[in-house]
Amino acid sequence: MTGRMQPAAVVAMVGAGQLARMTQQAAVDLAVELRVLARSADEPAVLAGAPAIFGDPGDPAALHTMAAGADVLTFDHELVPAQPLRDLVAAGHRVHPGPDALAAAQDKLHARRLLGQAGFPVPAFCPVAGPEDVERFAAEHGWPVVLKARSGGYDGRGVIVARHGGDLPEDLARRAADGGPTWLAEAHVELAAELAVLVARRPSGATVTYPVAQTTQVDGICRHLVTPAGVADDLAWEAAELAQRVVQHVGGTGVCAVELFVGPAGRLLVNELALRPHNSGHATIEANATSQFHQHLRAVLDWPLGPTELRAPAAAMVNLIPGPGAGDPVANLPAALEVPGAHVHLYAKASRPGRKVGHVTALGASTTAALDVAARTVDILLQP
Ligand SMILES: Nc1ncnc2c1ncn2[C@@H]1O[C@H](COP(=O)(O)OP(=O)(O)OP(=O)(O)O)[C@@H](O)[C@H]1O
Ligand SMILES: [Mg+2]
Repeated sequence: MTGRMQPAAVVAMVGAGQLARMTQQAAVDLAVELRVLARSADEPAVLAGAPAIFGDPGDPAALHTMAAGADVLTFDHELVPAQPLRDLVAAGHRVHPGPDALAAAQDKLHARRLLGQAGFPVPAFCPVAGPEDVERFAAEHGWPVVLKARSGGYDGRGVIVARHGGDLPEDLARRAADGGPTWLAEAHVELAAELAVLVARRPSGATVTYPVAQTTQVDGICRHLVTPAGVADDLAWEAAELAQRVVQHVGGTGVCAVELFVGPAGRLLVNELALRPHNSGHATIEANATSQFHQHLRAVLDWPLGPTELRAPAAAMVNLIPGPGAGDPVANLPAALEVPGAHVHLYAKASRPGRKVGHVTALGASTTAALDVAARTVDILLQP
């Protein structure tokens, strides 16, 4: 006789991109049913077999359908309005991260104010209602000034390094729906390094932190990362401790990623916060005792968290981002699989310039050795 086991839990995830796709892989291991809110049938998580509800993440009815019968509602992206989530919480649904915490990941101005007022180190910033605000800010802090869209930015979209008043975007004076500004200005930090720290937190409070990763951005988009970070042990320790306090302060639940700047004189500054599995955690699939995707399911379900330590002396992850004239990663896959020790992940996304369509992770005796393997494999995947 065959019989279908009840799922261990039903998790509803808003969004069906690569983060949901890799969460689906973890859900299979744990007999968790992952239901995703997708816009179309060709999204990465739907192609990975996750049951989908089709709809718009801004549509209260779609969110309600997602939450109905699920143990918890969670997210693979932040572009979800707060009010329908508040309504779901009021109706007794579990939503993790909750709508108030989510605001810190949705709105860069809100996040800067929230953390700055609580005494966390953040770059100098100001809201921008027009060019005169930027000129005033630059008179105090100097050029360049970094202009950031308050919300909706990712992979460097919505981040402009303005070297002088002529570099300002035309819609600088546009107002957001709440009447507030749509841009903020930030002091340009001389970066000695960028770090990312993953923190997982259960709604009941238990928290774990992953070993600190060092990320490298090109044109505002993460190209690669290595773990352990190439910084002194006490700075890595300080980064992990700071990240954990940030997540606690905003009330994040599930997996959260805290991006940090190492500024002049080794001073740490909080850059931004993602309250979901994050690109900076992809290497945890192979490199850590518990992958961020397993950990996210465990955390949002308030299940015991897993250990986070590295399973090798070092690890590296390189994003697969085609440039103009790049070859097709699918056609190059067999050649890439010849590289010993390379773990290739393809997201089943159509390849186009500037778009993240996969990543490669490698473990090694050193970060240099691991990065060499992962980078070589990405070069093969992208060869014309
Ligand atoms: N104030 C700053 N000073 C110097 N560099 C900065 C500053 N702000 C941002 N950057 C650079 O731009 C990158 C992208 O900025 P940020 O993380 O704010 O934007 P994002 O597009 O939302 O990124 P993500 O893809 O991580 O969501 C940073 O990782 C950093 O390299
Ligand atoms: Mg960022």
